[in-house]
Amino acid sequence: MNSLKEAAEAVQQRAYAPYSGFRVGAALETSEGTIVTGCNVENAAYGATICAERAAIAAAVATGYTSFTRLALVSDSPRPITPCGTCRQVLNEFGPEIVVESWAGDTVQRWTVSELLPGAFDRENLS
Ligand code: THU
Repeated sequence: MNSLKEAAEAVQQRAYAPYSGFRVGAALETSEGTIVTGCNVENAAYGATICAERAAIAAAVATGYTSFTRLALVSDSPRPITPCGTCRQVLNEFGPEIVVESWAGDTVQRWTVSELLPGAFDRENLS
């Protein structure tokens, strides 16, 4: 049993993906042990689409969480997916050490955010 994966699977059912038909669910584990979820939300102006990972981050921040340990991802792909570049950047803001675990059935792939986005632009670059 993996409750983080199960939370991602549950929210995947709520994905709003009428254009791609590709449903994604993301579940974030906070440092406090809470789980916050997000799904992809598409738009007729395709570029306005919000990915599941960013939806989960936005929901978590709005709920009062900014420190995260793990992110579980599920999708309609038969293979584990990797977060898009924009989501990698957004995840990096909250922790290069967050572990992303991407599931397809019983197959899982794991990376840290810093592995997914080496040399990220971050707050240090602003000073
Ligand atoms: N999508 C996500 O939600 N997360 C990813 O990691 C990759 C892509 C969404 C965006 C769009 O709604 C659909 O999947 C197809 O790209």
